[in-house]
Amino acid sequence: SPSTAAPIQITFDGCIPGFANNETQYCCPPKYNGTIVDFIPEKELNSSKPLRVRKALQCLSKKEQREYKAKLDKAYTILRNLPEDDPRSLHQHGILHCAYGTGALVQPGTNITIDIHFSWLFYPFHRWFVYFHERILQNILEDPEFSIHFWNWDNGATVRKPKSSHGGCYKVGHFLPQVYNDSSTAQYEAQRSYRAVMSDLPVDLSIIPEERADPPLRTADVALPRNVASMYVAMMLNGSTTRGFMGGEYRVGDTQVLDPLTRAGSLEVMGHASGHWWVGGPFGLVQTSALDPLFFAHHSNIDRLWNNWYNLPGGERKDYDDPDFLNAEYLFWDETATLRRVTVRDSLSIEALGYTYEKANDAYWINYV
Ligand code: C2O
Repeated sequence: SPSTAAPIQITFDGCIPGFANNETQYCCPPKYNGTIVDFIPEKELNSSKPLRVRKALQCLSKKEQREYKAKLDKAYTILRNLPEDDPRSLHQHGILHCAYGTGALVQPGTNITIDIHFSWLFYPFHRWFVYFHERILQNILEDPEFSIHFWNWDNGATVRKPKSSHGGCYKVGHFLPQVYNDSSTAQYEAQRSYRAVMSDLPVDLSIIPEERADPPLRTADVALPRNVASMYVAMMLNGSTTRGFMGGEYRVGDTQVLDPLTRAGSLEVMGHASGHWWVGGPFGLVQTSALDPLFFAHHSNIDRLWNNWYNLPGGERKDYDDPDFLNAEYLFWDETATLRRVTVRDSLSIEALGYTYEKANDAYWINYV
């Protein structure tokens, strides 16, 4: 019961080097001798600064695409070449996600392993992960306005005409974004599946856990109607309540669940996980997914969909107000390789974190039925 429970808090001490799925990958963050610093929201630091805008990748102009692609290339060349134990390296991004997602970390003072997936900790964790990644890229690019633009995979061909009220850009976004799909750049990942790199196959948002190892090949005529249905189910039907969308409660003493369907929120499985499995390669596995730079464009879209979710019609759409949700904590590396302590509470407003999202046919799947 909530009166005896407590919020999940993170320490890297006691990290178990192996990982839960019986594989051998080293998933422990590097030793840190500094002081852990509490996070201060950007708005408190500088309230007059205009919000940065994360845009839909497919809606960038040709010129913007060229510039963005070159920036990603520069940034990921640097992140790939940093020493492996530098917390800002791409390697350590992979490790951090592995640590948080495979049971390498334990709840302080216990031997109960932690997984921030499949629960109410999913959206806030990934918001923070993209946020700190963005700060690291801003820093190495010396571009304080640099934003992680989103892979707008929920915006496919329409089964109903889009309503103008959804606003923004209407270009379909269901193909792997071109700026991540050039083999001559550092944001490219050579082991992505053939599905992802072929320019005429749209993402398949309907892949189920049983199909993850070898997803069926669905061409556009089959995949697109299924994608609309999947988004409708995730956002409108199963996602119309706090529990349904956010996932189940997760507090100190609760064990890791291995079956996503027991506690995960609707979009975490349909859409989010399906996207990982469709792209495949390192991106398709929890222990390596953040080694593919595409991770951050994918999660920028998840983050946007969470932010848009509150304003969809019907149901009850608000964050949990349970203190064990609000006071849950994570640790992240910032651009100076300082370890920051952040809370779920501080993640709940993207404006307080200094950014917003471009409108891009934000709910074309809203009138599916
Ligand atoms: Cu922590 Cu997309 O996964």
